[in-house]
Amino acid sequence: MATGEKLFLRALAGETCERPPFWLMRQAGRYLPEYRRLRAEAGSFLDLCLDPGFATEATLQPLRRYGMDAAILFSDILVLPMALGQKLDFVEGEGPKLDALAGSADLKRLSAGGWRERLEPVVETVRRLSHEIPSSTALIGFAGAPWTVACYMVEGGASKEYAGVKGWAYRDPEGFSALIDLLTDTTVDYLSAQIEAGAEAVQLFDSWAGVLPATEFRRWVIGPTRRIATALKERHPSVPLIGFPRQAGVLYADYAAEAGVDAVSLDTSVPVEWAALTLQTRIPVQGNLDPIALAAGGEALAAAARHILSVLSKGPFVFNLGHGVIQSTTPEHVGQLAALLHAWPRIAD
Ligand code: CP3
Repeated sequence: MATGEKLFLRALAGETCERPPFWLMRQAGRYLPEYRRLRAEAGSFLDLCLDPGFATEATLQPLRRYGMDAAILFSDILVLPMALGQKLDFVEGEGPKLDALAGSADLKRLSAGGWRERLEPVVETVRRLSHEIPSSTALIGFAGAPWTVACYMVEGGASKEYAGVKGWAYRDPEGFSALIDLLTDTTVDYLSAQIEAGAEAVQLFDSWAGVLPATEFRRWVIGPTRRIATALKERHPSVPLIGFPRQAGVLYADYAAEAGVDAVSLDTSVPVEWAALTLQTRIPVQGNLDPIALAAGGEALAAAARHILSVLSKGPFVFNLGHGVIQSTTPEHVGQLAALLHAWPRIAD
């Protein structure tokens, strides 16, 4: 499949574009009044994710307002553990709650069969979106990376220290590998299904990559990502894979060199000058506006966005945030950013 004219795919193929394409992590969500209405209609967040009609609509909402260059499937990284048989709830105001796995003995609670059928509504959403998004917009599929999904499965939700999951990985690396391998294999099949349904690029979210020391980072972040990248390349050689090893620090360099991804997404803490010299000379980069600068709006937002653009737009680059849009962001500030990006390189206010 040719890259075609879509700006987002051209940047991921290594082109320096006349205007960097953009999309925003969590571009769909609670900061939009139309999303809040849709969610109320769906009943719960998971009902929204698992209904192709609702999920298609949630994906399209931000595009109508802001004309992003890419649409990301509306779903969640935690639907995979749910489909593997782990109980999952999203508790209002508290985030996800899973029935935590304490160690190898609990792996028998999971079932490797049947997950694909349970995720068919998500794949159907991708199929519908591939017909419904504007012709210049690219469609992104996604999954959580095995390490980050394992963090939620073992901690049972958000955590401060990740002592449960890291403790298991140190104490019993062989047993923990069984969980990582299950997630690696299912993620390959899940992302392949999204690609076959029409996803033109896929992103692996490794939100908790940064809690690991270097040796463990290589084993649990780079290793499984590389296996996923290799398997996807065999099946779908022309579909780009973006990796987001959040908070990896200097290990971003090892990740970019060794994980087999086609582009890296930078978190807010990565200096763009360092990224330009160390990463972008090797592969396209994506990122990394502070979501809080977006929420602040005004001159602080404009200055932060222009700085990133002035440094990274000289090479292959996709503009994005360093993490997801926060709930308190006003839609007007997202509009201000979108106007600036659409007008680049003209100096827009
Ligand atoms: O617009 C998009 O980016 C696409 C949809 C998307 C969601 N989650 C929707 C969502 C994507 C790509 C994700 C990824 C995701 N989910 C990650 C990786 C990125 C990151 O944020 O680090 C993680 C760690 C999750 C797990 C998750 N889902 C958490 C921790 C939470 C609770 C936090 C919160 O904001 O409430 C969710 C819920 C979630 N996922 C919401 C949305 C729109 C909010 C649900 C709601 O109340 O409507």
